Amino acid sequence: MGSAIVADALSKTYRAYRKQEGLAGALKGLFARQYDEIHAAKNVSFKIEEGEFVGFLGPNGAGKTTVLKMLAGLLVPTSGTARVLDFIPWERKAPFKRQFSLVLGQKNSLWWDLPARESLELNRAIYEIDESIFRRVVDELVDLLDVRDKLNIMVRELSLGERMKMELIAALIHRPKVLFLDEPTIGLDLVSQKKVRDFLRHYSEENRISTVLTSHYMQDIEELCKRVIIVDHGQVFFDGELDAIIENFGGHKLLRFTFEKTPFCSFDLGEIIERTGTSVKLKVPRSRVAEACRVILSNCDVHDFSVEEEPIEEIIRRAFHDHAVADRLEKQEPIAAKI
Ligand SMILES: Nc1ncnc2c1ncn2[C@@H]1O[C@H](COP(=O)(O)OP(=O)(O)OP(=O)(O)O)[C@@H](O)[C@H]1O
Ligand SMILES: [Mg+2]
Repeated sequence: MGSAIVADALSKTYRAYRKQEGLAGALKGLFARQYDEIHAAKNVSFKIEEGEFVGFLGPNGAGKTTVLKMLAGLLVPTSGTARVLDFIPWERKAPFKRQFSLVLGQKNSLWWDLPARESLELNRAIYEIDESIFRRVVDELVDLLDVRDKLNIMVRELSLGERMKMELIAALIHRPKVLFLDEPTIGLDLVSQKKVRDFLRHYSEENRISTVLTSHYMQDIEELCKRVIIVDHGQVFFDGELDAIIENFGGHKLLRFTFEKTPFCSFDLGEIIERTGTSVKLKVPRSRVAEACRVILSNCDVHDFSVEEEPIEEIIRRAFHDHAVADRLEKQEPIAAKI
């Protein structure tokens, strides 16, 4: 078998009905409907190997969910193809369905009016999982996710975090080899987010499944994904190690200095982010970090200092921004109006 997941020039164009204004427009629309074409995914290609945990990033509307839905066989691409575990996903063959799971953080897939346990039981029946294997897997997962005492509660009465944990259990009871997670931590409090993250890390290490995760919370990505694929306007513009993003787009470092007493030196080697009487935080271009440290250490009475990377959020935000600008320049579109 080749790679676990292969996307090969996947494209998806939606046609959205454009409603025309006013009564005349509405009448005209009855006879000659006008559509807008939305290119949600354009030539998306990548390969993901067995056991990899890959972050799939991009701003709102970039095309992440669309790509995941194609890989999970819920959508048929307009062009291009894909193979997941050597199956073409949208053929939706039964053996394929038994080997992957898609968790959509924004949607509920459990039976709302049943206790969580029965909802899981129904999934067992659908996937035709052996009773004893089911008991063992559920037993292990409820403990790992700390929801054993919630199994008899109606799904609609569970908190968001508890429901998401049950969704994860439901997605894993057939022991899939490929897992697509679309914002599994959305809306969860920080403690639940961490619990879900710790669980996903543990689970993927133990089971060597291939996982694609989208999340707008960079902590999820930093803690779980060594590799990230970044999309914008339906196109991949970065595919590599998370560390390489810092090298590619992390143009600055943050220097913090604390002083014995209020310093009288200038800090014009960088941008001042924060300043108190005896401390300063500077954002300095990477190429000037050594020089800035040298100048400040030799001219001020420094008590302590540290050099940090910028938060990954900021680096990625800049990557999106730089990419959007480059994209517009290429298309010769006005920049300011579009960003
Ligand atoms: N069924 C649909 N019909 C028409 N347009 C759609 C449809 N589904 C998605 N789109 C559009 O396709 C584009 C990509 O949407 P998609 O949901 O894949 O983005 P996303 O990267 O998952 O965004 P988010 O981070 O907000 O979840 C958006 O412009 C969206 O409005
Ligand atoms: Mg989405």
